[in-house]
Amino acid sequence: MASKAWWAGAAIYQVYVRSFADGNGDGIGDLTGLRSRLPYLARLGVDAVWVTPWYPSPMADGGYDVADYRAIDPVFGTLAEAEKLIEEAHSVGIRVIIDVVPNHCSTEHAWFRAALAAGPGSPERARFVFRDGIGDGEQPPNGWESIFGGPAWTRVHDGQWYLHLFDPGQPDFDWHNPDVRAEFEDVLRFWLDRGVDGIRIDSAAVLIKDFGLAHPECYTDRDGIHEIYRGWRRVADAYPGDRALIGELWLPDHERFAAYLRPDELHTAFNFQFLSSAWDAAALRSCVDATLAAHAPVDANATWVLSNHDVTRHVTRYGRDDTTFAFGGKLFGAPTDLALGTRRARAAALLAMALPGGVYVYQGEELGLPEVETEIPNHLRQDPFYRRSGYTDPGRDGCRVPIPWAGTAPPFGFSPPDAAADPWLPQPPSWAAYTAAAEDGDPESMLTLYRTALRIRRSHPALGAGGIRWRPERAERAPAGSDAELAFDRDPGFACVANLSTRPIDLPPHEEVILASIPLEDGRLPVDAVVWLKT
Ligand code: GLC
Ligand code: CA
Repeated sequence: MASKAWWAGAAIYQVYVRSFADGNGDGIGDLTGLRSRLPYLARLGVDAVWVTPWYPSPMADGGYDVADYRAIDPVFGTLAEAEKLIEEAHSVGIRVIIDVVPNHCSTEHAWFRAALAAGPGSPERARFVFRDGIGDGEQPPNGWESIFGGPAWTRVHDGQWYLHLFDPGQPDFDWHNPDVRAEFEDVLRFWLDRGVDGIRIDSAAVLIKDFGLAHPECYTDRDGIHEIYRGWRRVADAYPGDRALIGELWLPDHERFAAYLRPDELHTAFNFQFLSSAWDAAALRSCVDATLAAHAPVDANATWVLSNHDVTRHVTRYGRDDTTFAFGGKLFGAPTDLALGTRRARAAALLAMALPGGVYVYQGEELGLPEVETEIPNHLRQDPFYRRSGYTDPGRDGCRVPIPWAGTAPPFGFSPPDAAADPWLPQPPSWAAYTAAAEDGDPESMLTLYRTALRIRRSHPALGAGGIRWRPERAERAPAGSDAELAFDRDPGFACVANLSTRPIDLPPHEEVILASIPLEDGRLPVDAVVWLKT
């Protein structure tokens, strides 16, 4: 039986801290702002918040370039304030997950500066991946490309090159080095000692590099990585309470993915297959089946993710002809039917929240925010993806626009009324309709749907961790009927039905309707809708 620990069926809210709430009026979200919004999160009904990196950072990649893993960037607040945040969140029943970035640090990190100063062959350099170039040393050591585009190597003053799978401001650690291993276990302890309930592990599958191979994936999912997480698990297990280790694992193979969730490794991981899937009954069904089948042998709990700070917001994705997500295949500016996307997003939320395991909510998805695409002027884009791709990939700024809280014009309550600066990315004027205040109390709003669904999900004994039983396809029951429905039961007495066909469908026998993503039509479930039933 998979775990019943808090995270097993939790609803976890992702706070992208720079864009959540600005307490001091400099246009950048911070811990004061986040603390002031804890009552909102408590009322929303989430079990935990995951806060993206808050450490001192030159912000070459929005804070995923860490200069000091044991401190808070002054733009966000202080360590004392982070401690207060953890305490205040706990007092309203919300757990706190922090983001640890083990693959790389910042070029401003003390170790990297020491490595530059110490020179080739030094123990300081051995904590990173420094190599001599080829040819006259003028060519990078190999042809690897950075995930953000361009070469994955940058040359330093004495001619050596260092590896950075992401931005040049993010040098990769060498995870064969014992200093690196010991340092990160100590970083984990530093935060676990401060009461955090979980660690989200950034880029968790790329720590070990295999230079013997020419294959492009020779840095992803190498076998040697599991030993690292066994060590992390021993650290987490030494603490009281259930401290969760959560992997950011973009791996296409469900079994390779599940190997990270063996009982002595990570507790859970993000299900990006679900996020990437088309809005299509067969595709979603096979994703659910493959997910559950892969988790079962390792006795782990699945998660369901629709959006995060790296991907096109799903209201926009679902409003397009092609509803899938792929890095490199972004459909920036493609025709989008936002009404359709919103309707499907409502349905997807109820589907995700009904499936067994944990569910993630990315800030703003509960308001139904669309991706901001052409409305961000190019000169304001900050994501290194944009620059490094030679301006061919718009980057990820469009899902990171500061949250609209209230009012009819920017900054929509994101910053205080007397703010000295505009929000760090511009908010579209049309967001007046998407503020938390505008949606509060509106029975048809996305916010009301999320609040209602999360409340039910929390108290209903069938929801959260557990199992499902698919109902026979409608096509099997009545061959002339629709074949694009997803319907499953959960015990006790719960059924979820999703209509992804092209016409309304009859509901199966039930005692009562618990919640529907949009109103039923003459007792039938409309197209692109999901209903929860008491059976
Ligand atoms: C992860 C983060 C992403 C970041 C990258 C490098 O994928 O989610 O935002 O750019 O790692 O740290
Ligand atoms: Ca601020």
